[in-house]
Amino acid sequence: MQILQTVDELRAWSRAQRCAGGQVGLVPTMGALHAGHASLIRAAAQACPGRVAVSIFVNPTQFGPNEDFARYPRTFVADCALAEQEGATVIFAPSVEEMYPAGAATFVDVEGLSDRLDGQSRPGHFRGVATVVVKLLIAAEPDAAFFGQKDAAQVAVLRRMVEDFRLSTRIVVCPIVREPDGLALSSRNTYLSGEERRQALALSRAVRCVEGLFAKGERNSDVLIAAAHSVFAEVPQVRVDYVELVSWESLLPVTTAKPGTLFAVAAWVGTTRLIDNTILR
Ligand code: PAJ
Repeated sequence: MQILQTVDELRAWSRAQRCAGGQVGLVPTMGALHAGHASLIRAAAQACPGRVAVSIFVNPTQFGPNEDFARYPRTFVADCALAEQEGATVIFAPSVEEMYPAGAATFVDVEGLSDRLDGQSRPGHFRGVATVVVKLLIAAEPDAAFFGQKDAAQVAVLRRMVEDFRLSTRIVVCPIVREPDGLALSSRNTYLSGEERRQALALSRAVRCVEGLFAKGERNSDVLIAAAHSVFAEVPQVRVDYVELVSWESLLPVTTAKPGTLFAVAAWVGTTRLIDNTILR
C-alpha cells in the first residue's frame, strides 16, 4: 500500500485509476482508526475495489483554541495496517503545510447549517471541516466519498456543500458502529476513564429511549426530548450539551418527529465531549 503525501501525488494516482476505467473512493479521516472507520473503508472497497484512498489528517482548522488538537490520538503505523487490511489502496497523509500552504486564505462557510448542533457549541468547527473536505475532494476527484452517520450534522453540512458547488462526488453515508453495550465508537473514547466509560452509556441510552418511544407512536418533539433528558438526569456526572430533534437536511428543530428526522445528542463526560444520534425509522 502506497503512502502519498502531496496533493499532486493524490491527484495523479486518482487520474490514473480513472483512466484505467475504475471508480475512485475516498474515505476522509483524522486517523486513530477504529471499527467505525473500518466499516467506511470496507464500504469503499466494495464500491471501488482496488481504488480506495484513505486520508489521515488531523485538521487543525476544525479544532477550537481550547480543544484537543495537540492531544488528539495519533496512531499512524497501526492506522496504515488497519486501512490496508480493510481494503485501502493508498493512504493520503499530508502535512499541515501541504493542506494549508503559507498564506492560505480561502475557507468554506456553509452558512446557517454550520452554526447548528455541534456548530453552535464549537464555533468555526464546520468551517474547518467543509474547508478540508472540499480540498480533499478537489485533490482526489473521487466518484464517491464515504462518511459516517455518527457525525450526522457533518453529513448535512457536507451534502449542502457538494450540492452548492455542484461537485460530482457521491456522498455515501454508513451506519454508526457501536460497542456491544451501545457506546458509539469514537477516537475520543480513548480519553475516558473506566468510570467515565460507564457514564458515557447515557448517550446511547438516550438515543435508544427516543427510538423506542418513536416506535411506539410518540411523535411530539417536546415529549421525546424530555424523555431523553430524563435518561441523562440518571447520570448527573454527564453534562448535556444539546438534545435535539431536527430535520437532517436543514438541522432546524422540528415540532413533530417523522421517519427521517434526526435525533441528536452531545454531552460532556469529564473533559471529553461525545456525540450520538439516530435517524428515526
Ligand atoms: P474522524 O472523526 O476521524 O471520522 C472519519 C469518519 O469516520 C467520519 O465520516 C465519521 O463519521 C466516521 N466515523 C467515526 N466514528 C464512527 C462510527 N462509530 N461508526 C461509523 N462511522 C464513524 O469526521 C472526521 O474525522 C473529520 O471531521 C473529517 C471528515 C475527516 C474532516 O477532517
